[in-house]
Amino acid sequence: MSATVLDGKKLAAEIQQEIAEEVADFIANNGTTPKLAAVLVGGDAASEVYVRNKQRACERVAIDSELHRLPEDVSQDALLHLVAKLNKDESVHGILIQLPLPDAIDASVILRAVCPVKDVDAFHPENVGRIVQGNPRFLPCTPQGIQQLLIRNNIETIGRHVVILGRSDIVGRPMANMLSSRGIGADATVTVCHSKTQDLAGITQQADVLIVAIGREQFVTGEMVKPGAVVIDVGINRTDDGLVGDVDFESVSDVAGMITPVPGGVGPLTVAMLLRNTLCAAQQC
Ligand code: GUN
Repeated sequence: MSATVLDGKKLAAEIQQEIAEEVADFIANNGTTPKLAAVLVGGDAASEVYVRNKQRACERVAIDSELHRLPEDVSQDALLHLVAKLNKDESVHGILIQLPLPDAIDASVILRAVCPVKDVDAFHPENVGRIVQGNPRFLPCTPQGIQQLLIRNNIETIGRHVVILGRSDIVGRPMANMLSSRGIGADATVTVCHSKTQDLAGITQQADVLIVAIGREQFVTGEMVKPGAVVIDVGINRTDDGLVGDVDFESVSDVAGMITPVPGGVGPLTVAMLLRNTLCAAQQC
């Protein structure tokens, strides 16, 4: 293995420390505590873990959080009713609807119902549009975490070729918009690859920075990577051997210049950015 491992856990702890200080200032100056309301529908095991991690992180930086649990068979109307209540609740600054939602619920309807100024995931069409126009209110948590990882490790993006594997609304699309925008940690030349892309390896081999978010365990192997490239693994796949990413760490770390581990890479940064957005939401009120 020759690649430097990018320690997302350590960086997330540093960022959380910064946020904790800003939260303390906010509380001292405003007499209110930022609050996140999380909504968890059904009992998906992975979602349970993610939401618990987000709540624990809130506690660590003294952001209040409340969890609204709804059963798997909750109606769309009942969920919309809860969202409307949280929109009106002045003590709530940020609203997070944990995805995925059950198939019977149209997630786009629910995400559109969240008040855009409380939309700390940046999933509302107004917030997505603002990102596309280069005037973001919030940046979505995982792409924002990756951008911070690049900036804080002095990884150059200006004019570099960033290849993103995956075109999801949560990671791939917003990441492409952010990195191709003007500004710090951006100004890149971006290619988005997906399941219909031809000659995928031919494209990934051209990447200075390769961001992998396709949900297929250990899909990217060493021969798909340019020597010295920076490889960011967004995948979290549960296997009998524990958590693995979308990148085959063993073969890729022999070729890449830098690589994120799974776990301990992008995941903790996603959580830190949720805290950042919740504080931002409170500051905008
Ligand atoms: N499910 C997987 N990733 C995310 C995320 O970033 N936000 C929400 N709300 N749900 C998710």
